[in-house]
Amino acid sequence: MMRAPLVLTALTLPLLALAGPALAQDVAQATTAKAGGASVTSPDGSIRVTVTTDGDGRPYYSVTRNGKPLILPSRMGFMLGDAPKLERGFAIESQSVTSADSTWEQPWGEWQKVRDRHTQLRVRLKETTALGRVMDVVFRVFDDGFGFRYELPAPADGKPTRIIEELTEFSLASDGTAWWTPAGEWNRYEYPYNKTPVSRMTQAHTPVTMKLADGTHVAFHEAALVDYAGMWLRRVEGTRFRAALSPSSQGAAVVREGAFTTPWRTLRVADNAAKLYMSQLELNLNEPNKLGDVSWFKPSKYVGVWWEMHLDAATWGTGERLGAKTENVKRYIDFAARNGFRGVLVEGWNVGWDGNWFDNGDGWDFDKPVAQFDMAALSAYAKKKGVHIVGHHETGGGAGQYEAQSDDAYRYAAANGIEVVKTGYVTDAGQIDRVWADGRVTQEWHDGQYMARHHLNIVKTAAKYKVAVNPHEPIKDTGLRRTYPNWVSREGARGQEYNAWGEPKNPPEHEANLFFTRMLAGPFDFTPGVLSLTGKGGTPFMSTLAKQLAQYIVLYSPIQMAADLPENYAKYPGAFQFIKDVAVDWTDTRVLNGEVGEYVTVARKAKGTGEWFLGAVTDGTARTTAVKLDFLDPGKTYEAQIYRDGAGADYRTDQRHAIVIEKKRVKAGDALSIWMGPGGGAAVRFVAK
Ligand code: NOJ
Ligand code: CA
Repeated sequence: MMRAPLVLTALTLPLLALAGPALAQDVAQATTAKAGGASVTSPDGSIRVTVTTDGDGRPYYSVTRNGKPLILPSRMGFMLGDAPKLERGFAIESQSVTSADSTWEQPWGEWQKVRDRHTQLRVRLKETTALGRVMDVVFRVFDDGFGFRYELPAPADGKPTRIIEELTEFSLASDGTAWWTPAGEWNRYEYPYNKTPVSRMTQAHTPVTMKLADGTHVAFHEAALVDYAGMWLRRVEGTRFRAALSPSSQGAAVVREGAFTTPWRTLRVADNAAKLYMSQLELNLNEPNKLGDVSWFKPSKYVGVWWEMHLDAATWGTGERLGAKTENVKRYIDFAARNGFRGVLVEGWNVGWDGNWFDNGDGWDFDKPVAQFDMAALSAYAKKKGVHIVGHHETGGGAGQYEAQSDDAYRYAAANGIEVVKTGYVTDAGQIDRVWADGRVTQEWHDGQYMARHHLNIVKTAAKYKVAVNPHEPIKDTGLRRTYPNWVSREGARGQEYNAWGEPKNPPEHEANLFFTRMLAGPFDFTPGVLSLTGKGGTPFMSTLAKQLAQYIVLYSPIQMAADLPENYAKYPGAFQFIKDVAVDWTDTRVLNGEVGEYVTVARKAKGTGEWFLGAVTDGTARTTAVKLDFLDPGKTYEAQIYRDGAGADYRTDQRHAIVIEKKRVKAGDALSIWMGPGGGAAVRFVAK
């Protein structure tokens, strides 16, 4: 049936948008029908994106899935610092649709092969006013979501573009439940997850995951955050959101010379939580590898002089209790060599830790060891044992001072056999030191444009010396590991370290939250495997022993720490065997079941050995995960080495260490059922026999 085209004006549009799904559909159809509108569907036809302009020349986009509105007409544009806003008076000047289908390989990752199958809509918007500026919007639509970005030409006056605010909006067609952490707060990305109605969110970091009223799962994020401010998702009203840019001391959130493209604003869309994780949308929206052969990076496990400092049993600062003392580091090197770990992280090895280090960006030296740490002797000792020191560059937020030293720092690291450097930016959000050419120092956010640039500068410098980087208190991951595969991991969420400190510890649902939120972004250096299950002063974790093992599978990273003290591993040799055996690089990953914040079971196939591993976690509720082993290679018999919660295992009691370790013969198609206690989990290694 033909409908009379609706003329949308700034006034009628929000009213229609608020009127609910039935009317919303009319809006979407009307905007498609409007002369000059442009639209594209995903390769399988399920997702349709439409771009249009209203009566005032405001550009809008809207999205349907299976014919049902998903995103109601939502604004696009920019507030600029020294030019009129880019927001109204536009007409669509041209449009083009293209499609692509290719498969590319990751040097390391959750999947070896990644298929990039999408359609693309490019729309050129041109102001009909005397200004006559143009703005391209490019949508890439996949079967499991879409991304779009702006391409802005160089301003005619030759001045830089100064973006005060993005006007990009995401007006969700329905309410639902959201899992999110707050953005713009002092503790960076390190808050426990909130679970609220979508319509009760405030301002969130991405990825933000939502289950909409009809069960559709979506996750907002961004891809290829390069030389631009990170996006926070700010709720404007109801279920309407705005891309809020992380601010900057430079005034405008973003300052760019010449023509440039913004990061992609992305939305994964799936029928269920498991499929949301399986999407490779953001990786596909990043540029291919710019480093070439990175086989010098070896996915591997590491131990370290680390947990003892977080327990207050040793110090980062020099003195009697220094953790990085040569003899203590040797002990860890021996432990690593004995148990097959490639790396030994050493924190507190360099000059800068004495005094108020988190307030002192000037005090650090990244190629000067303290007297109690003998770098020459230790790197030689490590080499003899086939082990590598994992470097540590804590900056205390002194990013500018660090960048100035970075070439020396990475040359020094490489010369000492260091293959991976963990960096750190411990300071409150908004307190990063930016050093200007004239020596002035101003304060920046961890995820503003300055830090987007800073992190890439460090990653590129490290690559020059064939060193990989793992930032803590980082900027979020937006898939740049594809382009710079030496950016191997990062923190950027609440890690295991919170279990060492005071209360509250990480809640029992933490891993089931992380898997469907933070982990959509990419690798997380969570630092799993603390088998003692106790923090400072013997305070207990809200986890069972088996769950600590499951973390290695559930919380992906190509470098995984065995974070506990060697003497604690000695107490749990059975469970420790899994940490020694578990792989860190995968050719395939399958999510077998899961609900956000409740439970998940994931299977991964190890690169090289072809072994399969399974990890499952539950929240505070006991559950049985029942899976079909149809991922195993057909025709083979496997020994399943199972590590599961023992009878009565419970994070709330002294039974949190109860574990059963058993072996079973299995083959493809068999069923496996594993009980998990409250706060529990399970880990399985499948070895072909
Ligand atoms: C915070 C990091 O997350 C932690 O791993 C590190 O030990 C401290 N900063 C000190 O750099
Ligand atoms: Ca941290």
